[in-house]
Amino acid sequence: MLLAERVAFVTGAASGIGRAIAELFAREGAHVAGFDRSLESGDELIAALEAAGAAEPLYVHGDVRLPAEVEEAVAAVVGRTGRIDVVVNCAGVREIGDVYSMPTEEWDNVLATNLSGVFYCCQSTARRMRETGGGSIVNLSSVGGLIGLSHRPAYTAAKHGVVGLTKSLARDLAADGIRVNAICPGVIRTPLTEQYFEDSSFEQELAVQVPLARSGVTADVANAALYLASDMASYVSGIALTVDGGWLAEKSFVSGHAPGSPFFAAKHTAE
Ligand SMILES: NC(=O)c1ccc[n+]([C@@H]2O[C@H](COP(=O)([O-])OP(=O)(O)OC[C@H]3O[C@@H](n4cnc5c(N)ncnc54)[C@H](O)[C@@H]3O)[C@@H](O)[C@H]2O)c1
Repeated sequence: MLLAERVAFVTGAASGIGRAIAELFAREGAHVAGFDRSLESGDELIAALEAAGAAEPLYVHGDVRLPAEVEEAVAAVVGRTGRIDVVVNCAGVREIGDVYSMPTEEWDNVLATNLSGVFYCCQSTARRMRETGGGSIVNLSSVGGLIGLSHRPAYTAAKHGVVGLTKSLARDLAADGIRVNAICPGVIRTPLTEQYFEDSSFEQELAVQVPLARSGVTADVANAALYLASDMASYVSGIALTVDGGWLAEKSFVSGHAPGSPFFAAKHTAE
C-alpha cells in the first residue's frame, strides 16, 4: 500500500474528485481526514472511507475561504492523529459568465475559494508538516491554469494562480521536506461538470478534440494524486501535471483529424 500509516487531509472530500481521492487514499492505507462545507454530518463519507479501509477516518465541516476555520480543522486533525503527511486541495467552485456582466461577488468568491483557500490550507498544514519532517501537498488546478478558458475569467485566473503558488511553495518548502505539486485536469465528469453532458453532442465533441477520445473520470485524477502524494514521486516537486487525455498537447486549427481537410493534405513545393 502506497500510503500506509500516512495521514491525509483532503479538502472538497464530499464530492467528485475529492471524494474519489479520499476513497483511493483510504484503500492505500491512509488515515483520511475530509474537509468540506457541504456536509453538516460526515456520517456517510466516514462510512464509505471505513468501507474502503481507512482506520479512524475523520470529517471536519468548514469553509476554505475562512482561514480561522481552516486552522481549526487542521488543529483538530493534528490533535487526533499527531501529524499530517499529505494534503490534497480539491475544494473548488466555478462560475461561467461574460466578462462584461460577471458580478464582482462571483469573481471574489471564485478567487477566495480556488486560490486564497488553497493558500490558507497550504500555510496551515505546512506549519505542521515542517514540525514532523515533511510531506506532500497536491493542489487541484485545471487545464484552465495553463491556458485561457472562454467565459471563465475568474476560474482561469484562480487556476493560473494555483500553478504559480505551487511553483513558489515548491522552492520555499523544499528545505523542510515538503513537496508541492499541481494537477491540471481536463473535463472530468463530476457534479461540477454534469450539466455539460446534458447536451448529447458534448461527449462526441470530446471524442474529436481529446486525443484519448473521452471525458475523464474521477479515478483518472485520483490515480495521479496518489502518485504525487506517495514516495513514488519523491523527486518530483513544482510540476503542473495535466490529466486531460492529451487535450493540451495538440491544437491544429482544424477540429480533430478533419478527414479530407487541406490542412492535413496540403503539400508545398519550392518551385
Ligand atoms: N471536474 C472537472 O472537470 C475539473 C477539471 C479541472 C479541475 N477541477 C477541479 O477539481 C476540484 C474538484 O472539482 P469536482 O469536479 O470534484 O467538483 P465538485 O463540485 O464535485 O466538488 C467540489 C467540492 O468542493 C467543496 N467546496 C466548494 N467550496 C468550498 C469551500 N469554500 N470550503 C470547503 N469546501 C468547498 C464542495 O462542497 C464540493 O464537495 C476543483 O478544484 C475543480 O476546480 C475539476
